[in-house]
Parts: sequence; structure tokens; C-alpha cells
Amino acid sequence: MADQPLLNTYGRLPIAFDHAHGVWLHDTKGQRYFDTFSGIAVCGLGHVHPAVTEAIREQAGKLVHCSNLFHTAQQHRLAQKLCNISGMDGVFLSNSGAEANEAAIKLARLYGHSKDIAAPAIIVMERSFHGRTLATLSATGNRKVQAGFEPLVSGFVRAPFNDLKAVENIARSNPNVVAIMVEPLQGEGGVYEADPGYLRGLREICDQQEWLLMLDEVQTGNGRTGRFFAYQHTDVVPDVVTTAKGLGNGFPIGACLAKGATAELFQPGHHGSTFGGNPLACAAALAVIDTIESENLCERAEKLGNSLLKYFRDHFEGADYVRDIRGQGLMIGIEMSEPCPELVLLAKTQGLLLNVTADRVIRLLPALTMTDEETAFLADQVVRIIKLYAADDRERPRR
Ligand SMILES: Cc1ncc(COP(=O)(O)O)c(C=O)c1O
Repeated sequence: MADQPLLNTYGRLPIAFDHAHGVWLHDTKGQRYFDTFSGIAVCGLGHVHPAVTEAIREQAGKLVHCSNLFHTAQQHRLAQKLCNISGMDGVFLSNSGAEANEAAIKLARLYGHSKDIAAPAIIVMERSFHGRTLATLSATGNRKVQAGFEPLVSGFVRAPFNDLKAVENIARSNPNVVAIMVEPLQGEGGVYEADPGYLRGLREICDQQEWLLMLDEVQTGNGRTGRFFAYQHTDVVPDVVTTAKGLGNGFPIGACLAKGATAELFQPGHHGSTFGGNPLACAAALAVIDTIESENLCERAEKLGNSLLKYFRDHFEGADYVRDIRGQGLMIGIEMSEPCPELVLLAKTQGLLLNVTADRVIRLLPALTMTDEETAFLADQVVRIIKLYAADDRERPRR
């Protein structure tokens, strides 16, 4: 496998998967693994959900692609559905989260130019992640993602997350700012929730300054945190919302949604995508949304998330190797006291696929469709493996 002709962008684990169902991934050797992070927050309905498979199968036999020079019923239905859920007025459909964010960044720049600001800037946060395209990696608050790709795209101003004063200071000193782009709960950066009142505070600053509030819900959207969008835990309504990951349950699709006058900014020729919003992707996304709604998966995510948080907090109370446990819905971070790269390998030997982000945060993003038994199994295994790791760690020589 190591010799495969792929550019070397990922440090892959030595497992090759063949098929999957629900929370289980099966490798080519017949071993099964519990997927605790759903292909990085993508398969929110579990792997190979029958409703999505059926929608893809049916649409694939009818119409796969016709370009955005024409209308399709699937695209209209999906756009309408996303607007109804979000309170937004218009949607641009893309193929990924980074592309959805590119659309948002372009909207902010158009908005700035409409106000005669020649070099519009967007406030972005420390520890944020917005994607790997040049503009989105420039917006990302992680030097590792940017290093080697300079010159970065200009027009981003950085503030610490959860710091309203810092944003107010920028408002006083930088007349070029036109928007704020922020994750309501930072994912890749280490599962950090917005403090209560933070989004409301940002909304108020945006209203005073006439800036756009743009929420990156690529990871938090589609029911993951216990609401369809994480901002729906608050009374805040953004001007722009982006999503992707869970929207297609594995079929690539992203969306940039905009409200009010912001939804009128793009005109023909401003933006586009050959594949974006093709009927096959839209059929998959419509099946995802129908399932989230008909199976009450937002409520399920909230309930399971609360019980997992409690379970982990009870079991790690007083443990010096766990620094913090946080999250919302089925987006949970267990922060270890030390970087823990070997934990992923240990979990693999125990039949569990674990994700560690920001060096030491175990990020759990399991399927919203988990049964109670699977949830109990996940909780039990995660605790067991962390304890095993911590016991082994004490034996390991210090670097
Ligand atoms: C918050 C957020 N924004 C954007 C992205 C980029 O999405 P994609 O990998 O689909 O381009 C990610 C991916 O992890 C993300 O978590």
C-alpha cells in the first residue's frame, strides 16, 4: 500500500477498507472497526445509510449531471429546503467545505466593494480551520496549514477566539474590515465551544459596523451539535452560513447560504462550479435532510452527546492525564495533558478508529444514528483505551 501512486498529502494508517455499515467499517482482511469520527464528521447518518444509497441509486438512473446552465428539480428542492431550515434566502452549491467558504469570502469581498472599500478584510480567528485552498488556508488560524504556501491571500485579520474586546479593537483601528468569519464551535482547532454570548456579541458588532457575520458550519452543521446548525442554539441569525461534510453523508456537496441583501450580491459571471449542485449530489443531500428530520436526529445528537459528556466526565474525574472534556451534541473533545499520537495506533489494535486533533484532543464525531447499545459500547471502549494508554504512557520513556 505504501507504494501507491498518490501524492503524499496524508499520513495514512495501514488499513484498507472494503465496505461499511452504520458505525462499522470493514477492512479487506475481514476485521471490523468502530468509526468514532464518521470519516471526519461526514457520515452523520452512519455509513451507507439505506435512504441515501437508494436516493443516489435512483437519481443515478435518471440524471447525473447537466451543468449549471440549466435547472433541475433536485437543486431547487435542496436550495429551498436549506433556506427553510436556516432562515437564509439563497444558496450556492459547491462540492466541498473549502469551496463553500471560498464563496463566502468572495461574497464578503463583493460586499466590501459595494461599499467602495478597495481592499476589504475579513476578521478570522486563532485556531480556526476553513480549508486547504489558498484563500481558506490563509483564513485558517494554524501556521502548520499555511507554511510553505506563502504568499498567503491577503485581507484576513486575526483575533483570538471568544474575545469580543479584540474584535472591538480591530473595529476601531481597521476601516477595511467588512465581515467576520467564525466557526460556532471550533473543530480541527481542538473542539472549542463559543462562550455563551459570544456569537450574540459578534452579531451586535457586525450590526454596528455594518459587517457580515459569516458562520463556518462545515463541520458543525447537519445536526451534529444538536441543532441543524449550531447557531440555532442561540437567537443569532448570521448573514452567511457555510456547510458541507455531513450534508451528503459521504457524497461530496457543500453549500454557502446567504440572507437578505447578501443573497443578492452574486450576479451571473461572479462565481460558479462545473459540478456544484448536480442532481446526484442534491438527491443525496435531500435524502440526508429528510432522514435527519424524520428520525429526529438533532434531538438524538443532543441527547447522546449529553450522556457521553457526563459518562466521560464521571470516568475521568480527577485523572491527571485528561485536561478537559468539552463539546456540544455529538462533537466531543477529550483533551489529554500531553500530545498523544500513539493513542490512535493503540485504539486501532482494539478495533476502534479514533481521531486526535490539535496534537492532544481526542475528537469524537460519531454517527447521529447510533443505537443506545452502540453508544454505550463507544463510551466504554473510549474510556478503556484512554486508561490503557495512560497506564502505558507512564512506562514510556520521556522525550
Ligand atoms: C470548519 C471547517 N471548515 C472548512 C473545512 C474544509 O472542508 P473540506 O475539507 O470539505 O474542503 C473543514 C474541514 O475539516 C472544517 O472543519
